Amino acid sequence: MSELTRRPSVGAPQNLEGRFATRAAGMQASEIRSLFAVASRPEIVSLAGGMPNLSALPMDMMASVVHDLIADQGAEALQYGSGQGHPKLREQICEVMALEGIRANPDDVIVTTGSQQALDLISRIFIDPGDVVLVEAPSYVGALGTFRQYEAQVVHVELDDKGLVPEALRQAITSVRATGHKIKFLYLIPNYQNPSGVLLTADRRTEILEICRKEGIFVVEDNPYGLLGFDRPSPNAMRVEDSENVIYLGSFSKTIAPGLRVGWALVPPSLKEKLVIASESSILCPSNFTQMTISSYLANQPWRDQIASFCQLYKVRRDAMLQALEDFFPASATWTKPGGGFYVWVNLPPEIDTKLMMPKAIVAKVAYVPGTAFYADGFGTWAMRLSFCHPTPERIREGVKALGHVVHEELARRGGTLELS
Ligand SMILES: Cc1ncc(COP(=O)(O)O)c(C=O)c1O
Repeated sequence: MSELTRRPSVGAPQNLEGRFATRAAGMQASEIRSLFAVASRPEIVSLAGGMPNLSALPMDMMASVVHDLIADQGAEALQYGSGQGHPKLREQICEVMALEGIRANPDDVIVTTGSQQALDLISRIFIDPGDVVLVEAPSYVGALGTFRQYEAQVVHVELDDKGLVPEALRQAITSVRATGHKIKFLYLIPNYQNPSGVLLTADRRTEILEICRKEGIFVVEDNPYGLLGFDRPSPNAMRVEDSENVIYLGSFSKTIAPGLRVGWALVPPSLKEKLVIASESSILCPSNFTQMTISSYLANQPWRDQIASFCQLYKVRRDAMLQALEDFFPASATWTKPGGGFYVWVNLPPEIDTKLMMPKAIVAKVAYVPGTAFYADGFGTWAMRLSFCHPTPERIREGVKALGHVVHEELARRGGTLELS
């Protein structure tokens, strides 16, 4: 081997400090990611991850959809496609959105690799380092990670059991503007919010839209859980009331399957070109194969019934979790009562630090996500997110019972410490 082709010895430690771009400093593994390895051990009841429960999805049916697609349209499905997304799927996406009142033109839909990619594209075209993004308090960990990578300042706005508080939004806008920073958009999850499970009320939707329109702030409405309402349909999407100022994000991850990685953005026409160019420069085009799989599934299978069976599966698990919390958690704890989605948010007394408590929970064979994961500013030490989407109702009860013991012990220990101090 010549000197020119000789590779450096494998495994030699390299000091890369100073060689990364500045923005790489903001790239940190999320608290959820580092938890996954532990939480996925079979003996642990994981109330941590938000993985959709695919046990209700008939795999033989999916297999035949994929088989027929390749047999009949393989040459197209396995080829590059349009940067904006497959035209037929964009039409079908408009039918899906019509369930939440949206009347959209397929020309304004951009298909993405999961809605996570849409978040990345929006951040890329809007955020300069130091710009402000307003988000609910708490908010989706994956969005916080994306905003951090683009060096945004994330400002949290109060959320209560009716969703984002409009008055708090007004105050946040005033105080950010007083510092001279630009607010690029408000990011919110109006339906069965991740991580709180809260549903934004219809009158607050209107008020928030009015505030943002008046202040010239785009609203990014992230809606992966909107069709997963258990007890009644969700209110209309915010995009219904404002097609000029709302960027709507949708996903098939929770209503079909996340492995297909198909989501979308419905954007005001003025933004479309920039987003398509941004998407093409990162992925050329979304996968034709998975888009066409979804398209044939939507065309030939009873997808509305499938969503109804997912809702039934999650509702039973939600009920099991709420009952177990009632039975095993201390009276000083409070939690949300979600009408859909995957998550319950639990507030414990402030002397408890849920991150420090985590190793004890793992010993008790249960995992959750500490509240701080959902804040950009270290807030939320006394809170935790519990997801009910994956384990069986029996395992959920077992896990919440074990966690309840850990919390009781922690409270007793803290009480003891306080007496001594
Ligand atoms: C609120 C929210 N937005 C976006 C995503 C990303 O979804 P996708 O699988 O479509 O990328 C998730 C996934 O959990 C989510 O909870």
